[in-house]
Amino acid sequence: MSVKEEQPKLISTQNSSLDFTLRPKKWQDYIGQDRIKENLKIIIEAAKQRHESPDHILLYGNPGLGKTTLAFLIAKEMGVNIRQTSGPAIERPGDLAAILTNLAEGDILFIDEIHRLNKICEEILYPSMEEFKLNLITGKGTMAQTMSIDLFHFTLIGATTKIASISSPLRSRFGIIFQLDFYKEEEIEKIIERSAKILNVDISKPAVKIIAQRSRFTPRIANHLLKRVRDFAQVKNNGFITPLLAEKALKFLDIDELGLTKEDRRLLKTISDKFRGGPVGLKALASATMEEEDSILELYEPYLIQLGFIQRTPRGRVITEKAYKYLKIRPKDKLL
Ligand code: ADE
Repeated sequence: MSVKEEQPKLISTQNSSLDFTLRPKKWQDYIGQDRIKENLKIIIEAAKQRHESPDHILLYGNPGLGKTTLAFLIAKEMGVNIRQTSGPAIERPGDLAAILTNLAEGDILFIDEIHRLNKICEEILYPSMEEFKLNLITGKGTMAQTMSIDLFHFTLIGATTKIASISSPLRSRFGIIFQLDFYKEEEIEKIIERSAKILNVDISKPAVKIIAQRSRFTPRIANHLLKRVRDFAQVKNNGFITPLLAEKALKFLDIDELGLTKEDRRLLKTISDKFRGGPVGLKALASATMEEEDSILELYEPYLIQLGFIQRTPRGRVITEKAYKYLKIRPKDKLL
């Protein structure tokens, strides 16, 4: 196999969607995650002073919290190029080889969903991360030979929503590991105000608060809600977002005061009705709700746990008294 013949599977960084427009391009515009930002600034400054690449960085946290945005900001701050790909896009060793051999000195390689990288590619990554060497096996059986190619020094930034799915050999090769948390409500308000300015949307402060309260403390959701409410305002209110209009639009979208969707409520009701409040295992819950296990784990559960509506116990998920009160339902009687 010739390494140069392989076309790298890189995802375009020129995403034309609004998500790209709203993504902060400067540190000052990145709101929240203060501890991570402060740490990263020092790491970057120190690396720059030594004329070296920073250690490899692993970012983990729920979807939509800004892992990709941070990776791009790190590259900007370092003044280097960033190449973006994802675990599932790297199918064969040749894919990875093509990406690695195309990196220039100091570049950043960003691998999103790194937990989905297959075992063979993961093992090729180890010496690349440690010694900046690409070891490829050519030929088969007695003719097999290892070819070692020197790579330029690079920084790998891995992002994952599932830290537990990262093998310990891979995890141990990241010198820096940060967990992104849910945002504070005031931070989400600032993000909405910034996005509204960029989108040229006329919105009152109380309306910003209403959207922030329903954003599940997640910037991506806040921005999505802002865009949906903006559509509503454009059609119904000359584009002006008042609190009343925001309330109406969100109700129309079936999003309640805590930002719960129809799907979240259905999940809670299923645990209550079909499993008498739990405990219920993930598989049984996925099959009863006809949701993917991963959707439950990554999209629904983290926020429901954060709200204290669901607890994960060794025997499975249980719905809490707080959730019953909120949903105004009663636990189905336990089997007598
Ligand atoms: N958009 C997504 N994440 C953001 C953040 N942390 N600050 C500002 N805008 C964002």
